Amino acid sequence: MKNSEIDWSTLGFGYVPTDYNVRCYYRDGKWGEIEISSSETIEMHIAATALHYGQEIFEGLKAFRGKDGKVRVFRPEENARRIRESARGIKMAEIPEELFIKMVKLVIKLNERFIPPYGSGASLYIRPLEIGMTAQVGVKPAKEYCFIILVSPVGPYFKAGFKPTNICIMRDYDRVAPKGTGRWKVGGNYAASLSAGEHAHELGYSAVLYLDPKEKKYLDECGPANFYAIKGNTYITPASDSILPSITNMSLMDLARDFGMTVEQRHIPVEEIPTFDEAAACGTAAVCSPVGEIHDLDSGEKFVIAKDGKPGPVTTRFYNTLSAIRLGEIEDTHGWNMILDL
Ligand code: PLP
Ligand code: COI
Repeated sequence: MKNSEIDWSTLGFGYVPTDYNVRCYYRDGKWGEIEISSSETIEMHIAATALHYGQEIFEGLKAFRGKDGKVRVFRPEENARRIRESARGIKMAEIPEELFIKMVKLVIKLNERFIPPYGSGASLYIRPLEIGMTAQVGVKPAKEYCFIILVSPVGPYFKAGFKPTNICIMRDYDRVAPKGTGRWKVGGNYAASLSAGEHAHELGYSAVLYLDPKEKKYLDECGPANFYAIKGNTYITPASDSILPSITNMSLMDLARDFGMTVEQRHIPVEEIPTFDEAAACGTAAVCSPVGEIHDLDSGEKFVIAKDGKPGPVTTRFYNTLSAIRLGEIEDTHGWNMILDL
């Protein structure tokens, strides 16, 4: 695809073909050489564990073209750490941080022309994934793995952009089990969320707000993002074993402290929803997407959070601050950006 064919300012969150992806294979107990590929397909055994037993984990991070022309990647070492935890979680080969970072830098450099320009509001989404390659019919972990990183220029995850959207609670679905795989970024978690997600979309909601799968008493997270609420000067976000430890949420908690707010990571009972001044879904793809209303589809209750239909002041400040840090417009006091020398 030619760059001139991409309208950066209207990009949604989807797959755009780029020039290259990078790959590395784990065989005989060690990772091999990094390979550069211009193919969008892979060859794999029809009995590979990724295909039969869901041995697939992935990550999501973004690179930005800054005001000064430099390219910044947001906290890649945290994604490297989390994919290792995911690997440990479902018995896959762990990717060393050094290899992860080297491949992230390489895939960005190779696809530099797809990094959206400063001011477009878009970014380069980086999607690392690891899959089990060994042919196996018995339920056992693979011995061989493939680690791939592909990239795609993206715009906002929710079509509305930075505008409040409505989300819903549905007790008929869980995406993960109480002691299951929710704290890891395992493909199967997303497969388990598709049915609820589609149902919610058909009803006009942007996402499902899942409850804790054990008691269905507490807020957990949204299908593709964590959840937070603002109450006065307090930032509240769920503490739960069944949600993904979000790097965006972790960063927002730091920003909230920088803003002099109190941060509470704790159980949030459903009954607390009417006390929220603001709420949002947060994540790499979602950034911080303000919540307009939360509808409980079982009780029929409708909670209006964004009373004037606009993003709240705290979420707006978070969004603008995060964006300014990533674009090099303000000082990166926490040292979150990895600046690339392309
Ligand atoms: N929760 C889920 C289920 C996700 O898929 C994501 C996206 O990565 C997040 C939370 C947010 O995590 P992060 O901020 O690290 O992207
Ligand atoms: C991300 O925010 O990077 C995600 O992985 C969420 C979703 C696109 C699956």
